[in-house]
Amino acid sequence: MELKGKRIVLGVTGGIAAYKAAELVRLLGKQGADVQVAMTEGATHFVTATTFQALSGKPVYLDQWDARMPNAMAHIDLSRQADLIIVAPASADFLARIAHGMADDLLATMVLARDCPLLVAPAMNRQMWENPATRRNVAQLAVDGVGILGPASGEQACGEVGAGRMLEPEEIVEAVIAFFAPKVLAGRKLLMTAGPTFEAIDPVRGITNLSSGRMGYAVARAAQQAGAEVTLVSGPVGLAAPQGVERVKVQSALDMHAAVMARAAEADIFIGVAAVADYRVANAAEHKLKKDSGGIPPIELVENPDILAEVAALKDGPFCVGFAAESQNLEAYAQTKRRKKNIPLIAGNLIQDGFGGDDNRLVLFDDAGTHPLAPAPKSVLARQLVEHIAQLLTGKD
Ligand code: PMT
Repeated sequence: MELKGKRIVLGVTGGIAAYKAAELVRLLGKQGADVQVAMTEGATHFVTATTFQALSGKPVYLDQWDARMPNAMAHIDLSRQADLIIVAPASADFLARIAHGMADDLLATMVLARDCPLLVAPAMNRQMWENPATRRNVAQLAVDGVGILGPASGEQACGEVGAGRMLEPEEIVEAVIAFFAPKVLAGRKLLMTAGPTFEAIDPVRGITNLSSGRMGYAVARAAQQAGAEVTLVSGPVGLAAPQGVERVKVQSALDMHAAVMARAAEADIFIGVAAVADYRVANAAEHKLKKDSGGIPPIELVENPDILAEVAALKDGPFCVGFAAESQNLEAYAQTKRRKKNIPLIAGNLIQDGFGGDDNRLVLFDDAGTHPLAPAPKSVLARQLVEHIAQLLTGKD
């Protein structure tokens, strides 16, 4: 429920992508947003108002002269009740009209009369998107402070391929959540690790662990939404990179070490969420080990570099945050790791709470003491961690 209590007016204009706006209403509602739909006349040729009414649970507004508004001022009343207006899809015609301040239907008039922010998700044929007139209109809207979401490139409804596809509803919801997130890490460069590492025994076998990457990916997403420029060095996981996050994929602890050390000097913050293997196989086989090659193959282990400790030891290095997953004595073990690695903040979790799954229970340890966070989804804990880091950094600045 990351949009709980947010009042959003969704404007739908005429274009084939209007059918995706129905899913957008559903997803915004699922995140707790209160959605009011307003459509242009053109949009009603693609999807009916009844569809949006059923999904939003509210009558849809189509007409500036709608008799349901006692004062006949739908354009004022709807925008005054909103925290945000999103127009998705936003047609070339609609963008042109609002770029010129026109007020020739309910939606355009509402946009002109608004006192809240506006996001638009353009959707149109690629030639219409590339047309100099559209380019001028979009540039003007950006200068006017309108947030432009997309468009994406790909196959279009008309069969052509190029830029002009509306972003997927899930991507628009992510952008809306990011829009509302306080920008507590604005201007900061954040480097982090997540997931397990995979230490090869031979070309197909290896030593790894049960980290799913969920905690780290949630932290990357929360930090990006808080305004940080995020680079996520990730071990092998089955997760999509969070929107707006640069992901560097690695396999082994040595790969992860190289990817982090190449970027650490540039970073303002480093967070080690990865469950890095402490040891790698010294005698990894070049070819697949054969069972019938005589006896059980010996596996020799050699210690991996401690990435977090090395970053923390850099002169003028980033503000470092570690994670500790323990099966017992959480405070004592986490504090020992914090001191040993010489880092200002460590997030402790119990293995049974932290590994895999969508929820976790974190305890933050820093110079000021112990800060237990209530059990919650990893997305919520990630935001709390980001806020805690921002507070510590503000105290340091
Ligand atoms: O991925 P999930 O399924 O969501 O699970 C999340 C998690 C449980 C893996 C995560 O919350 C977590 O606790 N990660 C740290 C795991 C751990 O206990 O690491 P550690 O004790 O081996 O290392 C302590 C810290 O040093 C960690 O920040 C680790 O990233 C870092 N480290 C460790 C070894 C090493 N060679 N290099 C490192 O940078």
